[in-house]
Amino acid sequence: MEKLTNLVYKNPPEGPREGGVAPHGGALVNRLVQADPREYAHLPALELSERGYADLELIATGVYSPLEGFLGEADYRSVVERLRLASGLPWSLPITLSVPKAEARRYRGTVRLTRGGETVGLLEVAEQYEPDRHREALEVYRTTDPAHPGVAALLAQGEVNLAGRVSLFRLDRGEFPRYHFTPRETRALFRGWRTVVAFQTRNPIHRAHEYLHKVALEHLDGLFLNPLVGATKADDVPARVRMRAYEVLLERYYPPDRVVLGVYPAAMRYAGPREAILHAISRKNYGCTHFIVGRDHAGVGSYYGPYEAQEIFEAFRPEEIGIEILKFEHTFYCRTCGSIVSARTCPHDREHHLILSGTRVRELLRSGAPLPPEFTRPEVAEVLRAAYQTI
Ligand code: ADX
Repeated sequence: MEKLTNLVYKNPPEGPREGGVAPHGGALVNRLVQADPREYAHLPALELSERGYADLELIATGVYSPLEGFLGEADYRSVVERLRLASGLPWSLPITLSVPKAEARRYRGTVRLTRGGETVGLLEVAEQYEPDRHREALEVYRTTDPAHPGVAALLAQGEVNLAGRVSLFRLDRGEFPRYHFTPRETRALFRGWRTVVAFQTRNPIHRAHEYLHKVALEHLDGLFLNPLVGATKADDVPARVRMRAYEVLLERYYPPDRVVLGVYPAAMRYAGPREAILHAISRKNYGCTHFIVGRDHAGVGSYYGPYEAQEIFEAFRPEEIGIEILKFEHTFYCRTCGSIVSARTCPHDREHHLILSGTRVRELLRSGAPLPPEFTRPEVAEVLRAAYQTI
């Protein structure tokens, strides 16, 4: 294997507990290296998908600590079959890089990873193996239905996984540079807070989301709003619209000194319960102490029960996960209570409640109808309405 002698770490790897919460596995991974891509022009090139690039970045910056690369076969099998890396550390989704079988022979030794043709990093191929995609779908997504977007992506990928350590040459802060942080940076931003609660989201913010944030803020010092901005399914609201909605909302309704808005550059897999675990671990690596898991976290359609993403954490001892899960029931507006409530707090029955599904919200937006203020703040409704007029 080619030695990467001229790669210089931009930041020295960080030891356990430095900067607050211990990263998953003890140390924050850093595979961001300084290198001249031209020196690697002779190596075989592998063009990354949008998700592949996102995974590369998340590994390299330490969001996926302790992963230093794409999973080898022992880790892959262990993750699929028992939700743990081969070392026994909890890990829920196989982070893998696949190629078509006919091309696999090309990728031996060190491979140049490209994005839009440009060399962005390297993969030191340590292993090649054929994953059992049917089993992976059943275990990870709990279905083999190709209508499930995560299963569809799995079935469309190549037959052979390439495994090994990666390096990334440059951090591209993408479409939202003001809000694009590495875990080292967020840990510095959170320094004044003893407790920080993270919120994962892929949908436009609505009042039930805001309620979860504010209930959490009653108890905890800081809030890390961490919308996912990587690849999502075609009918999800685009990230730039969702980020704009956050900006207008934060300006008027959130205490500025208690909130950090930062993007989560991952692709959405829609793996419900399994994805909730990865989401929690990633946020621990960003330096958060608490993580919100509400109703049907990372779900799609009706593949998962509304609270399965909460129940799955019971398979682990809390210290193995290392970030406290704040579980919330389904919350919604009650006309009679005049506030956001849940079955735990509201005595009224259904006809008092205003509940809109994501599908219904998209229908209203497409038809140009206003979203009710009990569901969405007017400032956010206006951002969404304007965006849907131009979509
Ligand atoms: S997700 O795919 O990122 O989970 P979404 O952005 O809708 O989708 O949800 C973000 C977080 O808020 C998840 O933890 C989800 O469970 C929670 N959540 C969303 N809507 C509600 C609601 N009405 N009641 C309780 N929790 C909710």
